Amino acid sequence: MISSINTPDSIRRSDSAPESEPDREYYFIDACRREVSRRSEELGRPLTCCVVTFGCQMNARDSEKLLGVLKEAGYEEISREEEADFVIFNTCTVRENANERVYGRLGQLVHAKKKRPGMIIGLCGCMMQEPSEVETILSRYRHVSLIFGTHNIFKFAELLYRAMAEDRPVVDVWKDTNQIVEALPTARKYPYKSGVNIMFGCNNFCTYCIVPYVRGRERSREPKEILREIEQLAADGVIEVMLLGQNVNSYGKGLDEPVSFADLLREVEKIDGIERIRFMTSHPKDLSDDLIAVMRDSKKICRHLHLPLQSGSTRLLHKMNRHYTKEQYLELAAKIRREIPDIAITTDIIVGFPGETDEDFEDTLDVVRQVRFDSAFTFIYSPRTGTPAARMQQVPREVTQPRFDRLLALVQETAAARCAEGVGREDTALVENIDDHDSALVTGRLGNNEMVHFPGDASLIGKIVPVKLTESRGFYYMGERL
Ligand code: SAH
Ligand code: SF4
Ligand code: F3S
Repeated sequence: MISSINTPDSIRRSDSAPESEPDREYYFIDACRREVSRRSEELGRPLTCCVVTFGCQMNARDSEKLLGVLKEAGYEEISREEEADFVIFNTCTVRENANERVYGRLGQLVHAKKKRPGMIIGLCGCMMQEPSEVETILSRYRHVSLIFGTHNIFKFAELLYRAMAEDRPVVDVWKDTNQIVEALPTARKYPYKSGVNIMFGCNNFCTYCIVPYVRGRERSREPKEILREIEQLAADGVIEVMLLGQNVNSYGKGLDEPVSFADLLREVEKIDGIERIRFMTSHPKDLSDDLIAVMRDSKKICRHLHLPLQSGSTRLLHKMNRHYTKEQYLELAAKIRREIPDIAITTDIIVGFPGETDEDFEDTLDVVRQVRFDSAFTFIYSPRTGTPAARMQQVPREVTQPRFDRLLALVQETAAARCAEGVGREDTALVENIDDHDSALVTGRLGNNEMVHFPGDASLIGKIVPVKLTESRGFYYMGERL
């Protein structure tokens, strides 16, 4: 579903391709629109498109930008990729299984394209920043017409136009960029909530992680651009924003007038119409007391902190280049819970990082027991080409799998215990959809990011309503409207 497209009226349309951005992209959106309209007249039906997201919230936000351009160009969105005239896979490469999913879906599209030769297939996103993957795709999947990476996504309109005009595959992957192009169209997935990029890239180089290589150096958006975007979103009916960055706690470094993430939050708080503020992700090494104070004193910042642990072993945290110890993490979590008692703390944990011993793993379990995470994403370490950890001594699968199973069981047990403590509480929920299994119920998200199912109808979607949590079902609640 598309809720809105934001194209500033101030953008000039000109006769020849302007050099400056974003004017250049609006020029190419116009050119695409003429081509789309010509083709759809020929076919006697509208042209359709499908954008498939494979990655994280930032990847999803990028997909909304792709869809914004496609809608402006005259494409209609459909959900079945094999029936679309233009399909783009917005890829992820954080773990090997993300890449495998891309190849699996791409293989299926080959068959669809054989039946419908007019189909244009594009690939973009993090995986395209890896030259070996691009080579594989170009040699094995000849039906791909367009490949670009993360740094030049703002050039999508121009690249789309070239893909329509040229017979050969258009491949344009940049190594890096320091450009941030503002004011391009976006098509939001939800009318009432939206992600907002506050920064791009990452400078942390955790030794297991490929993100800094495929997303480039960290750069923050100007606060005034962020606030203007959120004001526009609020005017457009958005009540919840999720501020996005690989490490929001280092927001503002490198700007001409440096500001901290806590300062930015104070400004976002002032925007009328925004009722809930979330953010992702917080690196424990940079989480300031000022941020905890802003969260504690805020009426709008949700009682949820995603604080990736990765490992509970100080020895491994050092090898991961995380810049904190087990004790520092525990102290930080305790301080946060002390200052904001009703907060939910969630995390990411990697099992089987190179050299992980039973003792290291026990440290991880120990942190899970002590912090009692409200939920945790758990991953088996996946070696990424070019990262330091990929060259270290690996732990065999026979060892990592049983550890992973034990960790998952413990995480589920602690999460269920935390959830059970919430029964009887009165809270507010932002209603997101009709319950998948029972159409007499709606599903809402609590401030702490947990879900509650309660009687209601479609008229509640997008509204924040008071609820009572009546029953815990392990990792979600049943409830009633107050
Ligand atoms: N910037 C965020 C995380 C981005 S990636 C942060 O610093 O927390 C999301 C999660 O994927 C990471 O937190 C980590 O737990 C996991 N991850 C990253 N690289 C991985 C790898 N090579 N193998 C397994 N999990 C990985
Ligand atoms: Fe990856 Fe670490 Fe950057 Fe997160 S902070 S994106 S885990 S390098
Ligand atoms: Fe996100 Fe995957 Fe890229 S997690 S930043 S889409 S590698």
